[in-house]
Amino acid sequence: MIATITLNPSVDICYYLDNLLLNQSNRIQKYYKTPGGKGINVSKVLTQLGVEVAATGFLGGTTGQFIEEKLKEMSVTPRFVKIQGDTRNCIAIVDSSGNQTELLEAGPNIREAESKLFIKQISELIRDSNIHVLAASGSLPKGLGTDYYKKLIEIAHKNKIKFVLDTSGDYLKEAIKAAPYLIKPNISELEDFLGMTITSEEELISGMYKLQDYSIEMVVVSLGENGCLALCGKEIYKVYLPKVYIKSAVGSGDAMLAGMLKEIQKESSYQEILKTGCTCGVLNAMNEKTGTIDTTKFAEIYSQISVKRLE
Ligand SMILES: Nc1ncnc2c1ncn2[C@@H]1O[C@H](COP(=O)(O)OP(=O)(O)OP(=O)(O)O)[C@@H](O)[C@H]1O
Ligand SMILES: [Mg+2]
Repeated sequence: MIATITLNPSVDICYYLDNLLLNQSNRIQKYYKTPGGKGINVSKVLTQLGVEVAATGFLGGTTGQFIEEKLKEMSVTPRFVKIQGDTRNCIAIVDSSGNQTELLEAGPNIREAESKLFIKQISELIRDSNIHVLAASGSLPKGLGTDYYKKLIEIAHKNKIKFVLDTSGDYLKEAIKAAPYLIKPNISELEDFLGMTITSEEELISGMYKLQDYSIEMVVVSLGENGCLALCGKEIYKVYLPKVYIKSAVGSGDAMLAGMLKEIQKESSYQEILKTGCTCGVLNAMNEKTGTIDTTKFAEIYSQISVKRLE
């Protein structure tokens, strides 16, 4: 089983209207409400791929209850720590021209006792539920130190399981010291980490080699419609994608992570991990809804993706 970690989840609300008017009442024509947060998106895709998944993190209030119920309906097992604060709402307003305005709450403050309880519960979950891989995504809520992911990676090492991390900024800089199994920065996250602008494939590859010092098994740099480049052990791989019709690429990184997790759990080859990951990223981009893939198109897309080892 795989466990995902979403420390600051959200209820994602999407409002559709003709035109957003400021200083006036706006009538909503259509809306949907869904559990959100990067680790939760990863969980949604994993369950669509037929992989058993437990979602963990912090949940509170009626928004937290909503997430828990919806996850159960999707066959994701919720194993969250209940907190005093309220889980946040994130609102996206989409007009008829496709313009999107987002209103994002910061989320609750995690108390020290809650943060310690999560550490205890995740250790118990690993022991009791046959967890093979832990996957953490996104930023940290207030109240947790920037080294929180580092502590969780250390727990994974102690239990001899793999830890996959998709985060950025200071959270990544701190966590990387504990050597996660895989990281998946996109180009701007990698540039931020290295403190440099990347303008060519050569620069990208030499930037990836700089991460080798951290003993990370797989550094996967996702490149949107251009696929990805990955440093796996000592080998560099490049993934080529077919041209497809895109509806929304938001969350494609999360879908890609889900695909990679499925293969990591099966102990598949690097090529297989990258190919399944990119297939899921593409399928998410072909779908309007974040964290939703049409699995009936999996084989067709998969067969059009190629992975080459660069010399
Ligand atoms: N426009 C696109 N066309 C085809 N495939 C795409 C497109 N955008 C993303 N993908 C697929 O999804 C993968 C991850 O995308 P991307 O590099 O945009 O991740 P990201 O920036 O982390 O996304 P997010 O953080 O929104 O989840 C890519 O490697 C690719 O396989
Ligand atoms: Mg991303």
